[in-house]
Amino acid sequence: MSRQAHWETVYSQKHEDELSWHQPSPAASLELLDHVGLHADASVADIGAGTSRLVDSLLARGLGDITLLDMSGAALDATRARLGAAGASVSWTVADVTRWQPARRFDFWHDRAVFHFLTAPEDRAAYIARLRDSLKTGGHAVIATFALDGPEKCSGLPVMRYAPQTLAETLGAGVDLIAERRHLHQTPWGSTQAFQYSLFRRG
Ligand SMILES: C[S@@+](CC[C@H](N)C(=O)[O-])C[C@H]1O[C@@H](n2cnc3c(N)ncnc32)[C@H](O)[C@@H]1O
Repeated sequence: MSRQAHWETVYSQKHEDELSWHQPSPAASLELLDHVGLHADASVADIGAGTSRLVDSLLARGLGDITLLDMSGAALDATRARLGAAGASVSWTVADVTRWQPARRFDFWHDRAVFHFLTAPEDRAAYIARLRDSLKTGGHAVIATFALDGPEKCSGLPVMRYAPQTLAETLGAGVDLIAERRHLHQTPWGSTQAFQYSLFRRG
């Protein structure tokens, strides 16, 4: 099964309470976005947004330039249906981030539990090129992955686990680590998954 087919099947067949990564509030992401002054005029791209509630929080704060990208159209359809009229200003992109051709730049790039699926070096390199091309100089990226002591699989797929420093080394020079947080995510069924959240500034 292709990666895209995997994710379409997941979002077509499962309720969000059956998704290990589901969280009612993206508090850890917001904490790091606020650390560098997320404001209503900021543009934000949420990469692999899925059915995350981050967009709900951003809209509630008055942001009007939000792009949601995901490989799964079913995930974005579910988010669009949940938001209803409140989501009218959101830009929707069904794409593989490693092949995305962004036509613009953003103030913020957000990725929770997407980069860690890129186990092939060429996919990581393609992602990093998109990250660099898409972030304004002085823009910020929040990238959350499983921590070194986190699970070895997510949604049944193998993942790479990172510490903030190893993630920074992987992203390379010009994308500077400026803050980090450890977060213990509680799955909907009560198990714990260790995440690292890293905040980078594009120099
Ligand atoms: C574990 S889920 C996390 C969803 C969301 N970020 C959250 O925190 O709830 C991973 C998401 O990334 C998407 N995804 C995985 N690989 C991708 C890729 N190469 N390009 C775009 N989206 C991808 C999946 O469809 C899925 O929605």
